[in-house]
Amino acid sequence: MKILVVGSGGREHTIVWKLKQSPLADKIYCAPGNAGISELAECVPIGAMEFDKLISFAKENAIDYTVIGMDDPLAGGIVDAFEKEGLKVFGPRQNAAILESSKAFSKDLMKKYNIPTASYEVFDDYEAAKEYLQKQSMPIVLKADGLALGKGVLICKTLEEAEQALKEMMKEHKFGSAGNKIVIEEFLEGPEVSILSFCDGKTIIPMVSAQDHKRAFDNDKGLNTGGMGTFSPSKFYTEEMAKKCMETIFQPTVDAMIKENRKFVGIIYFGLMYTKNGMKVIEYNARFGDPETQVILPRL
Ligand code: AMP
Ligand code: GLY
Repeated sequence: MKILVVGSGGREHTIVWKLKQSPLADKIYCAPGNAGISELAECVPIGAMEFDKLISFAKENAIDYTVIGMDDPLAGGIVDAFEKEGLKVFGPRQNAAILESSKAFSKDLMKKYNIPTASYEVFDDYEAAKEYLQKQSMPIVLKADGLALGKGVLICKTLEEAEQALKEMMKEHKFGSAGNKIVIEEFLEGPEVSILSFCDGKTIIPMVSAQDHKRAFDNDKGLNTGGMGTFSPSKFYTEEMAKKCMETIFQPTVDAMIKENRKFVGIIYFGLMYTKNGMKVIEYNARFGDPETQVILPRL
């Protein structure tokens, strides 16, 4: 098979490295790739959002299968665009990738289907959000609705910090249009675990657990990032927890997406937190995690 991987990070490097181990893989391309990836695959200078160019490349080079690594093209509908041209591609369609690309959508889905998560409210009006904040206990968590490179979540210890964060998101557009709508969420505490899983739309198969380091700077002094480092397995995630998560979180999420006519095919990433009230979903991603993939795929 000729395979095209779309993306340019450590995650895509790992995906290429793993695919290359398959006896089915003859030639692997990566768009746009990076210097490390070029040791394993032929890098093609096409950006991940240049759908037309990627489709032409796939057709001209008789690519059998394309694997999308990143969130932005998935949210932008790259899978729909490839399928429309009859090309085989791995990842969720746009209407399912919304599980990651809108936090308001994913929170509402969890509420509707009783999937455990932090309590929250959604706002698209600055004054209403400000008024709501004044009645909440601190710390509190503010999340931009849309994609923000993993940096759109702010944990605020005081009301002043929260009001400042709200202003930056909704008035100063720190995260662009991703912050036009925001989620204000209850602050939870506990160890976090990332579970990546394969999903064919109906059946879900989790991979081994991992944990990532979110905060910048030594001793967790900085803001959240998309992930500064990672290890696998998680120390606290037991078989028993895995079983419970399958019953209360993983399968219910897949079933909920079917009921919403948004069948999810691809990787569902569950960002979980083990709180004193049990496991809760902190976030969903619609793709392999970065950097978790770098420690999970070598163990697969
Ligand atoms: P997210 O992008 O939603 O995963 O949020 C990024 C990180 O912010 C998470 O991995 C947590 O470390 C933290 N976080 C998000 N939501 C909450 C919450 N409700 N309570 C405490 N920490 C949170
Ligand atoms: N490591 C978190 C993420 O991939 O979003």
